[in-house]
Amino acid sequence: MANMETQRPQEQPDKNPFSPSFGTVPVALVGRDAIFADLHEGLEVGPTDVRFTSLILGLRGSGKTAMLTEIEERVARNGWVVISVDGVADGLLDRVSEMIAQASRTYQTPGLDALSGARSTERERSVKVGFYHQAWIEKEIFYPNVNMGLRERLTLLAEVAQRADSGVLLTVDELHSANQDEARRLASDVQHITKRSRLPLAFVGAGLLEMKYTVMEGHKNTFFKRIRRYDLPPLTHGDALQGLRGPIHEMGGSIAKSALRLAASCVDGSPYKLQLIGHTAWQVANAPTNEIDELSVDLAIESAENTMLHNISEPAFYDLSNNEQEYLIALVTLGEKGTNSAIAQTTDTNERTTRRIARRLDLAGYIVRDSRGVAALTGLVPASVIIKEAGLDIEDTNVAPYGCSSAGTVSLSAVAVRPCREWMPRSQARCVLLLGHAGRCRSK
Ligand SMILES: Nc1ncnc2c1ncn2[C@@H]1O[C@H](COP(=O)(O)OP(=O)(O)OP(=O)(O)O)[C@@H](O)[C@H]1O
Ligand SMILES: [Mg+2]
Repeated sequence: MANMETQRPQEQPDKNPFSPSFGTVPVALVGRDAIFADLHEGLEVGPTDVRFTSLILGLRGSGKTAMLTEIEERVARNGWVVISVDGVADGLLDRVSEMIAQASRTYQTPGLDALSGARSTERERSVKVGFYHQAWIEKEIFYPNVNMGLRERLTLLAEVAQRADSGVLLTVDELHSANQDEARRLASDVQHITKRSRLPLAFVGAGLLEMKYTVMEGHKNTFFKRIRRYDLPPLTHGDALQGLRGPIHEMGGSIAKSALRLAASCVDGSPYKLQLIGHTAWQVANAPTNEIDELSVDLAIESAENTMLHNISEPAFYDLSNNEQEYLIALVTLGEKGTNSAIAQTTDTNERTTRRIARRLDLAGYIVRDSRGVAALTGLVPASVIIKEAGLDIEDTNVAPYGCSSAGTVSLSAVAVRPCREWMPRSQARCVLLLGHAGRCRSK
């Protein structure tokens, strides 16, 4: 059963081989062979293998859903039962139950009927008194699974699969936004069935990197701590070349060498951006009739960078708590680089709290820290977004971070941005406003 949200790209009239929408499996899934092979090997070994329960983590648009779909399709081809749900909003456990019912109706395997939901049987009844005889059909409706808990249902499913020498794969996408109690409950069921009873119920979850300090760090949650974790790496330049060139050629198009190099150099490791650039370049050049040239790629990069800002960076900024946003704002006002103590002073927070915030931002991919603990922004939320969203009064020099185009991105290294930090004896704090600010100093 495929994830309801995901689908293979539709046959399009313009034959554009790129699919820049979330949850779509691309024509060429590049840079994921090693992870894919490792994970699949674990599934084949069975419940004793640590990889039998795995988690795919990555930034937005890094290809988590595409990976899940590929894995689901692969095991389904081998005869496995696939239960595929997403973790968004409450009701995760109900969704799993509903999918089990659907699967048991689809597969019609003996032994699964108890899981398929309400069913009815018809029985002939009659009454006979002397010469009087009347017969009628009585319909009885059974709700066989009403009293069956989720663990029992999953166990029964896994037992039937084991008898058929096959397996069950349970996938949960968007696990980062799942209700924590429900995720814990599900984890405990899977752990019991897979690890204790050694039944073939495999689990693959997918979520954003912040799971490293939410679901995975909860002290009650041993399952998510011990699960095999795969961090999706950024695409390499080689992956980007292959991911652009392959689909273009497959659809009968062509791309000039210099244009391909330019396009690949601006992918910045993001599969989503690769699809955006490829899709627009194909359209602008009117491929496959015309060769894709540098001009088309230039326009495609500019458009892709704007879309990345709207679809990736801005939501990522608004996913953060106030404290985390303040940290990033301080980092920008410090010139995009800063130690914890400088940031603590700028945000008027104690250093211990600042260290904790920095760790979370680092784990979630917003900042990187060097060996001396100096933090710098990654490309996930560029300075331009922070400046705009925080309403900072900083000149936008419109210099792109990756040397690709000038689509609304800024480099602050050329901008004199310093906090005021004047000491205010009455509030025993330094001013958090920018140097040269109007009006009086402020500590918050
Ligand atoms: N390995 C890959 N190679 C090329 N394109 C890819 C690859 N993986 C995913 N894509 C494409 O990138 C885009 C984003 O993929 P996907 O929706 O799977 O990302 P995601 O990590 O699930 O994003 P989100 O965090 O928003 O759910 C889609 O257009 C998809 O077709
Ligand atoms: Mg996804």
